[in-house]
Amino acid sequence: MQFFIITGASRGIGEALATQLLDDNHHIFCISRTSNHRLIELAKEKNNRISYHPFDLNNLSGIDQLFEELFNTIQHESKIDAVHLINNAGMLSPVAPIELNSADSIIENVNINLLAPMIFTSNFIKHTLELNIDKRIMNISSASAKYLLPSQSCYSTSKAGLDSFSKSVSLEQLNKEYPAKVVSVYPGMIDTQLQAEIRSVSSETFPYVDQFIQIAQEGKLQTPEYTADKLIEILFSEDFGSTVVIEEL
Ligand SMILES: NC(=O)c1ccc[n+]([C@@H]2O[C@H](COP(=O)([O-])OP(=O)(O)OC[C@H]3O[C@@H](n4cnc5c(N)ncnc54)[C@H](OP(=O)(O)O)[C@@H]3O)[C@@H](O)[C@H]2O)c1
Repeated sequence: MQFFIITGASRGIGEALATQLLDDNHHIFCISRTSNHRLIELAKEKNNRISYHPFDLNNLSGIDQLFEELFNTIQHESKIDAVHLINNAGMLSPVAPIELNSADSIIENVNINLLAPMIFTSNFIKHTLELNIDKRIMNISSASAKYLLPSQSCYSTSKAGLDSFSKSVSLEQLNKEYPAKVVSVYPGMIDTQLQAEIRSVSSETFPYVDQFIQIAQEGKLQTPEYTADKLIEILFSEDFGSTVVIEEL
């Protein structure tokens, strides 16, 4: 049995990832604040295993307990072939010059985009330390980590942090007996709620908003399904982890 822990499975890229990963030999743990009933129903119809854990990633101190629950289930499986973690959940806001962002909004952005994936990774590695199996961590980052725009300082900073974190953990794993492989991926521009959010910001607050509107109008956004397909190709690739930051799908 292969296990997949996917955050942000309620919509967008995470939903497409979980949908495409449904398989007789897979058990998928989905994490987001809202349950995805469409996904749960689909898994039921196909007789595939899904466990949905409604969870707010702002609850950083609750992540240890969440992992106790996940690995209680995993350990009951007689044959564990692989365990994968996909840190996909993310948020864009606040989109505004830094002096206009409240402390709470800055904290929430860094919680969801950076601290939660760090604590998930820590727990994942701790719980799989003694397992001589295939262990893979895929962090969904963003080209915004590298290509900076005004009013996106929180998002860019948290994603750049995620890339550095992936590189650091990847280095650490080189010396481990049963290492986990780690990558950070820029998925492109995808037609999800997150992109709709960018387009809804005023041009006074975000001077580049018209360019994002134009990209959408010209049909240049990828579908979540296409993106998930490419991400899964990377996840299952032979050389997963050989390049830590993957900038193009
Ligand atoms: N779309 C793009 O063009 C694009 C480009 C580059 C990178 N990305 C990255 O791709 C990833 C997925 O984004 P998307 O476009 O699919 O966005 P989306 O459609 O807005 O989905 C975001 C997901 O994150 C979850 N999430 C947000 N806040 C959460 C919280 N506090 N606790 C738990 N879950 C939370 C949401 O679930 P709930 O609301 O149900 O909690 C939802 O499932 C993100 O990391 C994003 O930064 C996207």
